[in-house]
Amino acid sequence: MDLKQHIDKTRLPRHVAIIMDGNGRWATQRGKERIFGHENGVEAVRDTVKAAAEIGIQHLTFFAFSTENWCRPHIEVQTLMDLLVEAIRNETQELNDNGVRLHAIGDLDSLPQKCRETLDEAMATTAHNTRLHVTVALSYSARWEIVNAARKIAQKVADRTINPDQVDEELFASAMETADFPDPDLLIRTSGELRLSNFLLWQLAYAELYFTPVYWPDFRKQHLFQAVIDYQRRERRFGKVKAEVLTTKNA
Ligand code: IPE
Ligand code: IPE
Ligand code: MG
Repeated sequence: MDLKQHIDKTRLPRHVAIIMDGNGRWATQRGKERIFGHENGVEAVRDTVKAAAEIGIQHLTFFAFSTENWCRPHIEVQTLMDLLVEAIRNETQELNDNGVRLHAIGDLDSLPQKCRETLDEAMATTAHNTRLHVTVALSYSARWEIVNAARKIAQKVADRTINPDQVDEELFASAMETADFPDPDLLIRTSGELRLSNFLLWQLAYAELYFTPVYWPDFRKQHLFQAVIDYQRRERRFGKVKAEVLTTKNA
């Protein structure tokens, strides 16, 4: 059954964020090294990007490497970085042909130089695209991002560019890595883990959370469609009661 036809195109999540998890377990199950799982995760990213473009999602964010992931064995970190360079090089042309714009968030200065250069090149090549914004979170942690935002704002106050009473939610959001994007409406995490692992803590305040036991390398279009269908069955109340949500929407 094609799940796509069950999606209401008028009520799509504008922004879907994904914690891609379970690569290591997927490989271990097959008696292979963890890196085999990461290699196979690339195909899942390709399929998910295509699925998002097909149904008209505007923003898709992938958690690819966390600040905490630097503490993994050196060989795994190095192979992940190499894989990232390879994947970006191989995919940029197709992303560009499909109207996808690539962005990156996180402490990008901490990435190996080759990685940083490849990313910058791909972001420049796709900079004119508007159909789908794909963001990769690299060397990213939400607490790092929040502390960074606080530091930037504190500096502005110290410079007397702004007063402390001008610090509000809007200003704070504009100091975050995600300043240019809407907050995620839907967060997907694969592999059955039920936690956020320091991902987009500020931006996920009102996101709908969707957890699936599927390991990331097995994630395909139909899994994304299923998550979107599940999202569309939910009632988002934003702290209000149902009648008020409807009134606000129609106002
Ligand atoms: C997700 O898979 C990929 C990254 C975090 C880079 P994992 O490598 O975390 O796989 P598991 O969770 O150990 O199975
Ligand atoms: C979260 O997965 C980070 C990424 C998907 C990049 P982890 O596998 O690192 O998270 P924990 O250790 O299970 O919380
Ligand atoms: Mg994991």
